[in-house]
Amino acid sequence: MKRIYTILALCGLLLLTGGCGKQKPIVIIPNPVECTPKSGTFTIDGETFLCFENIDGADKSLMKIIRDEYTSTFKITPNLGDEKSARTNYILFKINAKPDNTLGDEGYTLTVKRHRVVATANTPQGLFYAFQTLLQMSYADQLAESKTITLPCAHITDYPRFAYRGAHLDVSRHFFDVKFVKEYLDLMATYKLNKFHWHLTDDHGWRIQIDKYPGLTAIGAWRPERKTWDTLHPVQPEEPMTYGGFYTKDQVRDIIQYAAERYIDIIPEIEIPGHCSAILAAYPQFACDDYPYTVAVGPYWPPKAIMCAGNDDVLTFYQNVLSEIAELFPYPYIHIGGDEAFNDNWQVCPKCQQRIADLKLADEMALQQWLMDQIDHHLQKSGKKAIIWDDIVSDDMVNQSTIMCWQGPDAARTAAKHGNDIILCPTSHCYFNFYQADPETEPLAMTGLITLEKAYTFDPVPDGLDKEQLKHILGGQCNLWTEFINTPEQAEYMLLPRMCALAECVWTPTDRKEWKNFSARTEYHRQMLKKHGFNCH
Ligand code: ACM
Ligand code: ZN
Repeated sequence: MKRIYTILALCGLLLLTGGCGKQKPIVIIPNPVECTPKSGTFTIDGETFLCFENIDGADKSLMKIIRDEYTSTFKITPNLGDEKSARTNYILFKINAKPDNTLGDEGYTLTVKRHRVVATANTPQGLFYAFQTLLQMSYADQLAESKTITLPCAHITDYPRFAYRGAHLDVSRHFFDVKFVKEYLDLMATYKLNKFHWHLTDDHGWRIQIDKYPGLTAIGAWRPERKTWDTLHPVQPEEPMTYGGFYTKDQVRDIIQYAAERYIDIIPEIEIPGHCSAILAAYPQFACDDYPYTVAVGPYWPPKAIMCAGNDDVLTFYQNVLSEIAELFPYPYIHIGGDEAFNDNWQVCPKCQQRIADLKLADEMALQQWLMDQIDHHLQKSGKKAIIWDDIVSDDMVNQSTIMCWQGPDAARTAAKHGNDIILCPTSHCYFNFYQADPETEPLAMTGLITLEKAYTFDPVPDGLDKEQLKHILGGQCNLWTEFINTPEQAEYMLLPRMCALAECVWTPTDRKEWKNFSARTEYHRQMLKKHGFNCH
């Protein structure tokens, strides 16, 4: 196996250097907008100075993170100083005194010469990305376990295609601890992803402390531990509730801070009004019926679990929960779910039918639209904005929330025509819980196949949109649903290296994307990820 990787790496090296074996390969993912290789190398050693210029005092965290990563990657404590005090070669990180409009808020330039490396950006975030690129430029030497690390000389200008570059993690179906969430954020930062969509609630567990409703975590976060996940039989009274967990508010604050230091915004998701068995297990009074709801076990859920939209206490519940969420999370966007809300119960519930009659609504779908609008208005009052799954999209919707499209381009087109902002994560390309190779040879996963090559063909822009509508495409993300992913190792296996493909699809201009070239660069990343202990496919 090792030999195969060596051969692949050599082929990749030839491909990336145009056949000239002397030039060091530049294996950056996502591929930068412009990269001009130059001859020569810059040597990183104990003499090298690390310099910062124009870094706002408030962004001390950038300097700290660069220093710490530099030290742990190169096993060298850098000399610190400014450009003038640098006695030998130096690496300078500099915020532009006058903004460079080409670079925007996230772009950077990186110039590697024989005796100096200069990174410039308009913002600390741009410099952070320049540093990620610099680290990746040392991959070839790191893999070769070279005694000295040298960076190939080059000039790079880089900025993202989309402002929204996301990765989603479902922590309900299986719970992932703070350590793993931070690891996930580290991976995102490496690949210049900037939005973490944290799927915190679902049928299989409620995962965040809410002070007003302690039952959500005392009861809703726990279920029986089943050896196999593929059994459909419901929870039995004698089964101990030993599987689960949740994040305390202090842990959440810690994760928010960790993400912010890596320029990642967190979008918490609170599912409304379906996928709510965990809520109903703790607060059965919010259901339309008197079914004995439990936290769900197994990959499926009682599809009739839906919160009663005719019950005012349900609205109050959501408002209270979302007020705590809004207070905790600084990012303006909150995801309020809206997918797969099967409304069978609403069709027969007197309270829901009364609400439909009172409001002269057309049907149960209109009732869901109304409910989501109420929540949206509540969020707006606390300065927040809603993101909703595309299930609510219709020609006559009035809701102006951002729509997250998972079902395909039709809903995206309708939403964009309607003037809603959209984020794309279609099941066809972005569901990394699907198999990535022949199911016969792979561990159990969700039905569906998205190979690395298929993931690489993702383009967040659907056909058929005019210039105005195109402005509503914010970007895209990968989704990691965890019905069949029960350990950090398995999560890494499903995510890597497909996350590399997603990152390139949302960052790199289409004319800089090419499968064979990406595939060769990915070989280096695959090996680096493995070297760092990740369980990469
Ligand atoms: C989804 O996959 N139900 C959003
Ligand atoms: Zn009802």
